[in-house]
Amino acid sequence: MTKSKVATTADVSSGKVFKTTANGQKVLVSKVNDQYCAIANKCPHLGLPMSKGKVENGVITCPFHGSKFELCSGKNVEWVDSVVGIPLPDFAQKMMAMGKSATDVASFKVTQEGNDLFIDA
Ligand code: FES
Repeated sequence: MTKSKVATTADVSSGKVFKTTANGQKVLVSKVNDQYCAIANKCPHLGLPMSKGKVENGVITCPFHGSKFELCSGKNVEWVDSVVGIPLPDFAQKMMAMGKSATDVASFKVTQEGNDLFIDA
């Protein structure tokens, strides 16, 4: 792992995600309750980017199939429940999950030096 600068404090504001890369890895940096956080910008369902997902109460919703992840821990709190925002019935949710079970997204500890934010990635 290498320490990489991912943002400045001016880039990151509450209720949004800042899309960036660190060592070739796509990352979303956020600010939740005055804490800076980072997760991989790669949904563990199908590996699609989540940067356009809705952010609410420290949780991002994957824009493709509705999986939800905590922005600080990466913990999965909802798994595949819709298609581009349209809710799916239970049987269709299982089909859309394609046999994949609920999985957390990778998260990274963010350190701050002055106005610069770093992660180890
Ligand atoms: S790619 Fe994110 S929920 Fe399917």
